[in-house]
Amino acid sequence: MANFDPFRPSYLENPRPALSRLRREDPVHRSRLLEGWVVSRHADARAVLRDNVHFSNDPTTAASGLGAHVAESRRRSPVGHAPLLGSSDPPVHTRLRAIVSKLFTPRTVEAARPRIREIVEGLLDTATEQDRFEFMSTIAQPLPVHVVGGLLGLTSEEQGPVREWTRALMRVIGGGDLPPSAYREAERASKQLRAFLDGYADTHEGGTILSEIVSAEADPDRLSADEAVAFVTFLYQAGGGPTAMMLANVVLALLTHPDQWQQLRDDPALARSALVESLRWDSATHILLRFVCEETTIGARTVKPGETVFTNVIAAHHDPEVFADPERFDIHREVDTGDVLSFGIGPHFCLGQPLALIQGEEMLQAMLERTPEISLPRDGLVRAKELLLRGPARLELAVR
Ligand code: HEM
Repeated sequence: MANFDPFRPSYLENPRPALSRLRREDPVHRSRLLEGWVVSRHADARAVLRDNVHFSNDPTTAASGLGAHVAESRRRSPVGHAPLLGSSDPPVHTRLRAIVSKLFTPRTVEAARPRIREIVEGLLDTATEQDRFEFMSTIAQPLPVHVVGGLLGLTSEEQGPVREWTRALMRVIGGGDLPPSAYREAERASKQLRAFLDGYADTHEGGTILSEIVSAEADPDRLSADEAVAFVTFLYQAGGGPTAMMLANVVLALLTHPDQWQQLRDDPALARSALVESLRWDSATHILLRFVCEETTIGARTVKPGETVFTNVIAAHHDPEVFADPERFDIHREVDTGDVLSFGIGPHFCLGQPLALIQGEEMLQAMLERTPEISLPRDGLVRAKELLLRGPARLELAVR
């Protein structure tokens, strides 16, 4: 019988063989290790993610230790009572999403493109001063932090402190065994961020996401002050880690398939399709969590309220029912973006998807121009041991 151990070194290195076996032998797998169901077929993954009647996004509804753990963290967090977009359900999610999705207009996002290119160029200038550089800390992690800061409407001087406040808040929202000082710090950060948001409209022009949020706080159809603090915090979290992994995974996929990197060099217009194929082939989103709120079936299995579902996106992306020859990484593949589940699907579909794709495209274009001879040294890659995201902890690249 197939097993599932996402922390085994061979799985971290390449999860695809283990997942193909799981999908064939036990597509809705009861995992004792994770205390939940692991879903690996594309059709099942898609059905679970689209269904917010039988499946909740709120981890406090989990009957396993996770539920109590998250509930306790929220109780102790200064903004724990304010719902986060990604982990709320209707009607709260419907209300928040309606407010926030209006802020991510195609115009706002596309207008960010030149600025994104500028940021990439600046980061590359510094990184490539050396013959070898660490990609995660010099490009992949700082890029989305600058992009989210710019999108919100922060000046470069404001970005550092706001990022630090959200980091302190996210630390306690995430929970874990934290010292009392972490909660004191979060309390302080919450007050500082709130005061900053209160004063924002007086010191900035309109037309940014933050000015939209703070100008309409009195309107009951808008975000409350606490919800605004929670939203800004969540946006850094949602936009940061996944983007960094996505940027690293596309570089990694291309450099480990030198023929594909060469084809991209020959035709840089393939940047978007290379990015989408890398999301399919080695998705930054490894697992999306759902919690059963009404008894239902997934495939041939009955799942009960309180149970946790680990929707395995990487497994779904290698399902031969949907993708022909799924093991092949091919930047010419015509992927239907609706079949790529890296940004989720259904009610919680990623609001930052267009912005994430622009970051990936601009980064690839800049690298094709500036570092076409780049390569991955033999000892360059250290994988992150994370459950929900897949990608490197460290990625050393050689420029020349
Ligand atoms: C600037 C970049 C990004 C921003 C601002 C952003 C923002 C968001 C927001 C606000 C949500 C919540 C939507 C909701 O729950 O209604 C979300 C969801 C999501 N995002 Fe992103 N995101 C970004 C990049 C990415 C990247 C690069 C990936 C993966 C490769 C990703 C994957 C997801 C997924 C899978 C969800 C849905 C989670 C679920 O269904 O439970 N995001 N994102």
